[in-house]
This record gives sequence, C-alpha cells and structure tokens, in this order.
Amino acid sequence: MEDSFDLQRWSADCLTRVERALERWVTADAPADLEHGAPAELVEAMRYAVLDGGKRLRPLLVLAACEAVLGNTAAGLRAACATELIHAYSLVHDDMPCMDDDVLRRGKPTVHVKFGEATALLAGDALQALAFELLTPDDASVPAGMQAHLCRLLARAAGSAGMAGGQAIDLASVGKPLTERQLRDMHELKTGALLQGSVMMGAACGATSPGAWAALAAYGAAVGLAFQVVDDILDVTADSATLGKTAGKDALHDKPTYVSVLGLEPSRSRARELLDIALAALDDSGLPPARTSVLRALADMVVNRVN
Ligand code: IPE
Ligand code: IPE
Ligand code: MG
Ligand code: MG
Ligand code: MG
Repeated sequence: MEDSFDLQRWSADCLTRVERALERWVTADAPADLEHGAPAELVEAMRYAVLDGGKRLRPLLVLAACEAVLGNTAAGLRAACATELIHAYSLVHDDMPCMDDDVLRRGKPTVHVKFGEATALLAGDALQALAFELLTPDDASVPAGMQAHLCRLLARAAGSAGMAGGQAIDLASVGKPLTERQLRDMHELKTGALLQGSVMMGAACGATSPGAWAALAAYGAAVGLAFQVVDDILDVTADSATLGKTAGKDALHDKPTYVSVLGLEPSRSRARELLDIALAALDDSGLPPARTSVLRALADMVVNRVN
C-alpha cells in the first residue's frame, strides 16, 4: 500500500512532464529550414494515436530507471517519449484489419477506423521515425555517444528481434497449440522487448556497473513478460469499458495466450512468480534500495493492475 501511494505521487509529476513533452513534440510545425510542414491529416492521426490516453508504462519505466542511476534528465525525458511513440505506433498497426482487426483503443475508435487504413499505416511509420528524431537532438543536451546507445537499444527492442518479430510470430501462431516455451518466446519479443528496452534506455542515461546493468536487464525481462501474461489474463477477466479496448478477443481470434495454454489460475501464479524474480533482481543490483523503490512499485503495478 505504501508503495502504491508513493508511486502515485511520483507518477503524477512524471506523467505531467511526459504529456507536455509529447504535446510539444508530436506537432505539424515545420523545421525552420523546410518550406512546408507535414500534411495536417497525417499529424492529426499521429496526435490522435499518442495524446490523451494510455497508462504510459514505458515512459514511467524509462524515468524510474534513469532516476535509479542518477541519469541525464534531458536524455531520460526524450527516451521516455521515444518509447511511447514506438508503443503507440505498434498499437496503431496491431489494431489494423491485417493484424488484430480491432475497433476500440484507449476508449476511442482505432486510428484506421477514424482516419482510414492508409493514414493509419503512415501514422505508425511516422511515429516510429519521430521516436529516433527525439533521441538525436542537435543541441548539447545529450552526448553523442549516449544518443547512439539509446538509438541502438530502441531499434533492437522495436525490430525483427523485438516487437516486430514478436508480432510476426503472433500472427503465424493463430490457431496453433503452442508449448509454454514457444508462447514465452513470442511474448518476450512482442511485448517484453520494448518494456525491457525502456528500462535499459533509462539505465543508459547514466553510468552503471556491469552488475547493475545485468540486474536491470533481468528486472526488465521479468516485468516485460509479466506485463503480457497479465494482458492475456485481463482479456478474459476484464470488460471493454475498463480496458478501453475490446475484451475477449484473444479467444475469438483463436490466439494462443497464457490463459489458453496454462489456464487462468496458473497464469496468475506465473505473473506473481515473475514479480518475485523482478524484485529479486533489484535486490541483487547493488543499487541503493532508496533508488529502486519506484521500479519496485512499477513491477507491482504491472502484475496487480486492473487495466
Ligand atoms: C497494450 O499495452 C498492448 C500490449 C503490449 C499488451 P498497454 O496496456 O501498455 O496499452 P496502453 O498504452 O495503456 O494503452
Ligand atoms: C500487442 O499484443 C502487442 C503489441 C506489440 C502492440 P496484443 O494484441 O495482445 O495487444 P492488445 O491486447 O491488442 O492491446
Ligand atoms: Mg496483437
Ligand atoms: Mg491486439
Ligand atoms: Mg492483448
């Protein structure tokens, strides 16, 4: 209880900073050296996809890890927003008819329903590009080596060995009886990689010992997998109004999930085991406990959330 109270206070300030930054950075403003800005409808679709919605878990993980290593705060805010842009793009594409064919996201019609499929596709593409632009400011606020490291971590988390690869496995697995091992591999890529990447990007904003880096990687892996286990559980146990997206669609689309492969109660136990693994990794990190309390509370929130 104490943890969640602290988390709410800490999150309120971070969320304000993230919302303001996203509002400022996802715009139609033309760079000074360009005659024309971006097409208005495309930018409107990008803003619709990103602003005013979502739990912002990935930005919170970036900022919490950045604080844990006393990192560069300008880099941390840029990395936080970059992870959310990649996540928002992945949701736009995930909802399209060629993937999960969903009409509701964050309590609103999905981007392709509102703007059409071609604009949704392009909005996702443009959000991905903007993420990397944010990581490479042309002022002196983020050292060049740190910029490159952040770009590499995000590219790895989002690409064929991360989110995009996991999404490909997800689509190829419809109607297939996966083993628990195969299911875990899929979830680690499609969802775990970007969540773990968020933790590592926060860590990359500061200096870490190899031991702390490895511990944060283990924490991120456990939280990332736990997140998708809980997403699978909530698809069965929560309603659409609470989730802001259509409940019950995994079974409808014959998707292998933790619930379909293990059952509901074993999936809950698995999520709790992953929480223990995440917290144990922080215990072993060598970081002062006072600096990892937010990461602890975020792991708890991931496993015990209701939406
Ligand atoms: C939903 O992610 C998609 C998955 C990776 C399971 P979130 O549950 O973080 O979605 P928002 O950002 O809060 O809308
Ligand atoms: C999506 O997983 C993971 C992404 C990379 C977007 P899901 O398809 O389970 O996400 P929801 O349930 O639609 O949010
Ligand atoms: Mg999907
Ligand atoms: Mg989906
Ligand atoms: Mg889901």
